[in-house]
Amino acid sequence: MPDANAKPKALIETFGCQMNEHDSQRMREILLQEGYDFTRAPEEADFILLNSCSVREAPENKIYSMVGRLGEFKKKNPKLIIAVAGCVAQQEGKRILQRQKEVDIVMGTDQIFHLPELLAQARQGKRAVRTAWMPREQKTQNFIPTEELAHFEVRGASAGLAITKGCDNFCSFCIVPATRGRLVSREWENILAEAKLLIEKGAKEILLLGQNVNSYQAGGVNFARLLKAVADLKGLRRLRFTSPHPNDWSPALTDLMAGHPMICPSLHLPFQAGADRILQKMRRGHSQAQYLEQVAYLKEKIPHIGLSSDIIVGFPSETEAEFQETIQVMRQARFSQVYAFKYSPRPGTKADSLPDDVPPRVKQERLSRVLSLFESIREEILLATLGQKLEVLIDQAHPKEQGVMTGRTGSHLPVAVLSPELRIGDLVLVEITAKRAHSLEGRLLA
Ligand code: SAH
Ligand code: SF4
Ligand code: F3S
Repeated sequence: MPDANAKPKALIETFGCQMNEHDSQRMREILLQEGYDFTRAPEEADFILLNSCSVREAPENKIYSMVGRLGEFKKKNPKLIIAVAGCVAQQEGKRILQRQKEVDIVMGTDQIFHLPELLAQARQGKRAVRTAWMPREQKTQNFIPTEELAHFEVRGASAGLAITKGCDNFCSFCIVPATRGRLVSREWENILAEAKLLIEKGAKEILLLGQNVNSYQAGGVNFARLLKAVADLKGLRRLRFTSPHPNDWSPALTDLMAGHPMICPSLHLPFQAGADRILQKMRRGHSQAQYLEQVAYLKEKIPHIGLSSDIIVGFPSETEAEFQETIQVMRQARFSQVYAFKYSPRPGTKADSLPDDVPPRVKQERLSRVLSLFESIREEILLATLGQKLEVLIDQAHPKEQGVMTGRTGSHLPVAVLSPELRIGDLVLVEITAKRAHSLEGRLLA
């Protein structure tokens, strides 16, 4: 017999980037406040929240097919509420309600804190759409109302902290300025208050988040000053940030990273494409030479830095020779992580008016070449660490191997350490003893 006192159960499914992960974490906390428990089983859920991504067509389509499948559970549980949040919700708004009868709530990227009201409305059987942007002042002061700060959960060793919202860059291929809005930087006092709280609650590492973090500018404080202020906080062991844009990168930022022990020697610096003509058409604002100059200086100042990047293959009119330049940049920069994508036209973006003329077969073939070069470079990077003594931040128990904990080096390489007594959040010295398929194995040093 169902327990009348049992808490309702929520299931959150997150797609897309770390910003979405971060928003999902905030919504999880709100649902906890609303008295929800969590489940991974849709048949048990009273509320299913899909936090969506529309950066390419594939993840967008996934949302629609998933909503269709979840609709089945409504037949068994007519009280089940289904919400679509995130970037598809922001972009499509009420069209989602028209298209998918299963959906009860559509909430845009600035509406997270209205979740309780929207839920109340849906419980009364009224479908709800909210995609308005939050007023700018409210955004700069608080991404989260200050009184909510106390409810923060820190799960694991690392905690995300949003410092900007939106993006003003309007790269020609990118939907993000439409789904996240114009760039807003959060007040730095508020960022520091949240950072302190996260450290108090056990975070060893803070990850500053934004679509373009180094364009941060608020109250006369720029990204370099903010970075230093957070890095100086007592109790913090590691600081990372993502994503910076090459246009706003500077030698001074490299110097700051090189000189501050708490700022990790790892950097995700997306370059997208190697050829200058393509970079221009992408409206990236930098050339290949400028990018490689930044990389050279980073490597000079921080020789053990772990670099990663995003790459798009098959942008409209990209020739084989131009693609070869992307390969050249990869050979020179030697990324330890690469996120590569086939160009996917997005509605309303500048590039959407260009013919998507690189055939799917060619895009696929270029993607494979990027990935196989990346694999071979990463293999060399992993092998080069054998025998080294590296600091590892333990972040989880190995999902399959008993007694094995996993973590990351400062340069963000994954390491498995056989030691059952290790705890999440431990920062330990490890000797690298073996290379696994995509990671390292290490022995705990006293
Ligand atoms: N703000 C980040 C990128 C956010 S989107 C930055 O500027 O670096 C994450 C990645 O998705 C982008 O770096 C790009 O490589 C990829 N991407 C964005 N739009 C795309 C599209 N239309 N087709 C294929 N990949 C895309
Ligand atoms: Fe998109 Fe460019 Fe902004 Fe990154 S910098 S979010 S790629 S518009
Ligand atoms: Fe996707 Fe939106 Fe992030 S489109 S990549 S979830 S900002």
